[in-house]
Order: sequence, then structure tokens, then C-alpha cells
Amino acid sequence: MSISPRGNWSSRFGFVLAAAGSAIGLGNIWRFPYTAGENGGGAWVLLYLAFVFVIGFPVLLAELAIGRATQQSPVSAIKQLVPGTWWPIVGGIGVMAGFGILSFYSVIAGITVGYVGLSLVGKFNATIDGDSSAAIFTGLTSNGVLMISLSLLFLLLTALVVRKGISGGIERAARVLMPVFFLFLVLLVVRAMTLGTAAEGLAFLFAPDFSSLTVGGAVSALGQALFSLSLGMGAMITYGSYLSKDDAIPISAGSVAIFDTSIALLGGLIVFPTLFYAGAEATAGPGLVFIVMASIFGSLPFGSVVSVLFYLLLAIAALTSTISLLEVIVSYFVDDRRWPRERAVWFVTALCFVLAVPSALSLGAFGGLTNFYERGGFLDFANEIFGTYFLTVGAMSLCIFVGWKWGIKPALASIEAGGHRLPAAGVWSFLVRFVCPLAVLVLLVYGAIFGANW
Ligand code: TRP
Repeated sequence: MSISPRGNWSSRFGFVLAAAGSAIGLGNIWRFPYTAGENGGGAWVLLYLAFVFVIGFPVLLAELAIGRATQQSPVSAIKQLVPGTWWPIVGGIGVMAGFGILSFYSVIAGITVGYVGLSLVGKFNATIDGDSSAAIFTGLTSNGVLMISLSLLFLLLTALVVRKGISGGIERAARVLMPVFFLFLVLLVVRAMTLGTAAEGLAFLFAPDFSSLTVGGAVSALGQALFSLSLGMGAMITYGSYLSKDDAIPISAGSVAIFDTSIALLGGLIVFPTLFYAGAEATAGPGLVFIVMASIFGSLPFGSVVSVLFYLLLAIAALTSTISLLEVIVSYFVDDRRWPRERAVWFVTALCFVLAVPSALSLGAFGGLTNFYERGGFLDFANEIFGTYFLTVGAMSLCIFVGWKWGIKPALASIEAGGHRLPAAGVWSFLVRFVCPLAVLVLLVYGAIFGANW
């Protein structure tokens, strides 16, 4: 039942599922393994985990606090808290980050749908090896028309859910999709852990070798912690704005953070044993999950079933995340510009589609976009700019806003509304006021002065 005309989650469990659905996505099973692979594994993973607890979780609480206190999406929320200031720009940057992330995210999500199709027609059969798997990947990604169509298809699926609103669209989709996701995930972890290369995979993920860490690696670990929890651009402000006054934020936020982080690690437990089994390189970049995973299905018992499950899993995880990205931008037009939801959904979807085109053509279809800068193509570029820099700067600004402008007291009151105490509230305040802003600043300044490989 709706409490406000904007809509609400129908229950706390519905909120946790939707927020976990937003957090758990390609970030966990595509971005986490390939970034861990590029940065040497264990030590980077440890740093990522540290950032989740020291920066991610405090920022998650801060975003939910803003959302629930104002019942508004980021721009209008900040306007309401500090009228007549420049601070709402922080929300505006979040809306831009949303466009940027959704535009490349929907391209990778489109590839997952393409791979569901390829596995259904039995492409990943007994004859497949590393080379032919790579050829299948490039075959798909260098087909510009197909890539654009798959991204469009995914954006349309997302739009169909978001136009239905909060409890009837987003929450209902999460209730169906998340349990299916968990089931598939467990099946795949069991399969990967019985491959015989489980020990190597575990060692890569958990045995730290600190000599492989760089400043650039540390920035990307922080970016990954924020990206994975959907933080730094106001998605959790928006989801928090549909919470009612007595939902328990400390418990819900804790469950979301634990869920999301465990699933990234489980994603690693699927991908790395498989990678060593296939004898592939961990540094393959964004194609890693697609190429490596596809190369072994043929040699597995029930491989064709497993392959369909795996890519469906990815597609489902991606959908509950694209929903949240689209919702942030749509709710800006609804709350701040007073547009009807339906118009906002179609306008934003169309604009995102236009922005997705360069990313869709940058995995081989069009040379200039494929070799866009020294570290890769346009998609990698968008991923780095929006997925790392916008989010780290966004998280820093939100912490400064909550810690120094709006105030710890009203934020804490919002977190604890309904009588749900936040344990160690003093630690949270210290992290938000000092640790998070300084950590981001130091990392970005060091990176700028000494270069990312320092
Ligand atoms: N967290 C999602 C993932 O891990 C991606 C995502 C959804 C996101 N909404 C977001 C990232 C908002 C940053 C901000 O795949």
C-alpha cells in the first residue's frame, strides 16, 4: 500500500531485496573478477574489502539517511536540506554519473543476453577452446548493429520495469529475480569448486602479494567498493527515499553490504577456478568473464545447461542493477522537474540509448572507438571516468555534505528513526567526517602527482 504519492516499498524485506538487487550486478561477476585479475588478485581484494567496510558502508548509511529524511531523490533532497546553496550540484553530478554508467553498463548487459542466445543454440559445445571462445566474443562484439540492438533491448526491458514504479515494478521484479539469481549462483559455485583448480583460484583471490599494488590499483579498489554497493551517485538516496519512517536502516544496510560483498567473492570463486582450469590469463580485461567461462562449458558435464544458467544469471543480476540506475535519473525528472513518470522513463531511456552507442561500437566494431585511449576503448574509458572517478568524488562530496554541512545529528536521527540504534555511531561519524573525504582526496592527489602505476 502506498503511503506517499511517490510510492513506497511494501515491506522492509522488499527494500532489502531491491537494494541488494541494485548492488548485486555485473559489478560483482564481471567488473570485480576482471579488475582483481588486472591488479594481481589477493592484495587488491583485501584492499577492496577494507574500503567496503571503512568507506562503503558509512557512505551507504549516509545516502539512506538523506533519502529517508527528505523522501526525495538526490537533487531535490539536497535542495530541501540546504535551500539556496550550491550543494544540489552534488546530486546533479550523480544524475550525470547515472547516465554515464547506464550507457556502458547496458552494453555489457546486452552482451549477456547475446550469450544466453549463443548458449541456447549450443555454441559452447565440446569443440570449444580458448581461441575459439575468444573468436566468438569478438564475433559478437565487432558486429556493431547487433551490439547496438542488444543494448537497446536491455534498456527497453529496464524501462518496462521502471515505468511501473516502486512496489509494483522495481520491488516485484526484485522479488522474482533475486531468488532465481541466488539459486543459479550456488549451483555455479559448486560446479567451479569441484573443477580441481579450486585451490589455485582461492589462492589467487585470497593470498595477498602486496608488491603488485599501485596507487592506481588502490583507486580502482575504492571505485569498485563504491560501484559494487551502488554508491556515490545517489542511487541509495533514491532507494532510501521510498523507505517509511520506521524501517530499520542499520539492519537493512548491513544486510545489503554483506550480501553484495559475499556475492562478489562468490563471483570470484566461480571465475578464478574456471580460469585456471582453462589455463587462461587473469589480465584479459573486460572480455575475461565471457571468454574464459565460455571456453570451459564444452568440457563440463551438463556444460550446455550450465552455460545457459551462467549467462541468464548475469543478465538477471544486470537487470536489477540497470533498474536502479534508470530509477535515479527518472526520479530526478519526476521529483525535481515534476514530469510524469512515463514521460521521464521514455525520455531518459532514449537519451541513454544514444549515449550507449559509442560504447557499443567500442569493443571491435569501430576502430577509433576501440582504441580510444591508452588503456582501452571508449567503454573502458566511460567505465573508468563514471564508474571510478565520478563515484569516488561523489562519495567524498556526500560525506562532506553530511558530516560538515547538513550535520551528523540530523543524519543520525534519520538513520535511527523508529528506534533502531546504530551501533558505534561515533565511529560512523568519524569515518564520514574525516576518513572518507581524506582517503579519497589523498588517493586522487597521489595518483595525479605520481601517476597511477606508482
Ligand atoms: N552496483 C551495481 C553492480 O555492482 C551497478 C550499479 C547499479 C551502480 N546502480 C548503481 C553503480 C549506482 C553505481 C551507482 O553491478
